[in-house]
Amino acid sequence: MRIDELKGKKMTTKALEGVRILDFTHVQSGPTCTQLLAWFGADVIKVERPGAGDATRGQLRDVPNADSLYFTMLNHNKRSITLNSKNPKGKEVLEDLVKICDVLVENFAPGALDRMGLTWERIQELNPGMVYASVKGFGPGPYEDCKVYENVAQCTGGSASTTGLLNGPPLVTGAQIGDTGTGLNLALGIVTALYHREQTGRGQRVLAPMQDGVLNLCRVKLRDQQRLAHGPLKEYSQHGLGIEFGDATPRGGNDSGGGQPGWIIKCKGWENDPNAYVYFITQAAAWPAICNVIGKPEWKDDPEYATPDARLDKLTHVFDTIEDWTKTKNKFEVMDICNPLNIPCGPILSMKELAEEPSLREAGTIVEVDHPERGKYLTVGCPIKMSNSPVEVTRSPLLGEHTDEILAEVLGYGETEVGEIKQSGAVGTPPKAEAAE
Ligand code: COA
Repeated sequence: MRIDELKGKKMTTKALEGVRILDFTHVQSGPTCTQLLAWFGADVIKVERPGAGDATRGQLRDVPNADSLYFTMLNHNKRSITLNSKNPKGKEVLEDLVKICDVLVENFAPGALDRMGLTWERIQELNPGMVYASVKGFGPGPYEDCKVYENVAQCTGGSASTTGLLNGPPLVTGAQIGDTGTGLNLALGIVTALYHREQTGRGQRVLAPMQDGVLNLCRVKLRDQQRLAHGPLKEYSQHGLGIEFGDATPRGGNDSGGGQPGWIIKCKGWENDPNAYVYFITQAAAWPAICNVIGKPEWKDDPEYATPDARLDKLTHVFDTIEDWTKTKNKFEVMDICNPLNIPCGPILSMKELAEEPSLREAGTIVEVDHPERGKYLTVGCPIKMSNSPVEVTRSPLLGEHTDEILAEVLGYGETEVGEIKQSGAVGTPPKAEAAE
């Protein structure tokens, strides 16, 4: 395209404007994916079971009779249609939606969509260009039929066995790496498949298994598994403590995952504040500055401390000594002193501190949204910032809020057809039954 043609084009359209998503997702993993696509401008039509909707609408409720934060924080910028996919008329509507959408996203238990009659073969018959994207717990193999939630994925993907303190039990992490992590993978798969469709005209299946997603995030632990065959993992504090390694990557506590030793150490106020800690990294290049700042200038030239190798069996003492200094400062003072000296460190920020941080509000990373049932609440904004596709976070839809508009405007049904659909019970309780109640 020539520059003068480009100049005439509207440059502020959202990146995915014109892409229509049939969002058959629920709980967290699938909704994360479709929310991201909606933020990038796709028209996301969330299909929900009449009367019930996504189960998370009612889970972990904090405000009576209002959609939960669990739901609202995963379903911004979407439209909601209620549709019973097991009702014959509902099935017809669903198939019409398949015909006019670019992508179908689902994360039901394995086989659920097939049982609705929406097999991949049927989808291709209805719309050869459709991208059919799924989250499942596992890929092909012995567990492919299993239902999976976040922590199951963390446990089966290698995260739990490598998280926790040495000699303690396996631990799950607070970050939703199985659900939200896999939702991100699926979103990438979808836009890649859409790009491919531009060249081939055909859609394809996209599968993001949660086990794969977690294992992908744990790649450094698979790296360490293979390094074990060649000797101890010297950067793990276990080595410095003289504890032998077994035959699998151990739990590394708060050891840094890379080649630069790090640990979480106490700061001023730790006795009363559970988050008065800082992550401190003894990066080799910053070692002279660290020695100066903690009052140990003699360590710079002491052969016992001067090199990373020499320090490996003394890391506990090194971090105890650094902690003697950090305990005299609060975590923000540690950051303020260390950053200008290029010493990598990070305060342990609580959710309260993050929620109140003005710079995160300004950047759109934390956003305040207004909701007709629950009032104002905070949510996380889009974690990817694009210069020419601005994100405006709008509230999640009420259950079935856009049913009429989707039937009439998106599917183009006339009044009679809409009446028949409603009468069939496909989108909710039929009008007569309502009147009889
Ligand atoms: N109309 C009619 N029926 C509908 C419907 C609609 N609009 N929407 C869903 N259903 C039905 C499904 O067809 C399915 O029925 P079936 O079992 O008779 O075939 C049923 O609702 C429930 O689906 P299911 O996925 O089994 O829900 P669940 O609550 O039992 O399981 C999970 C939840 C998350 C464990 C499961 O969906 C799963 O393993 N998903 C894949 C992995 C995943 O994404 N996990 C993370 C979630 S954050």
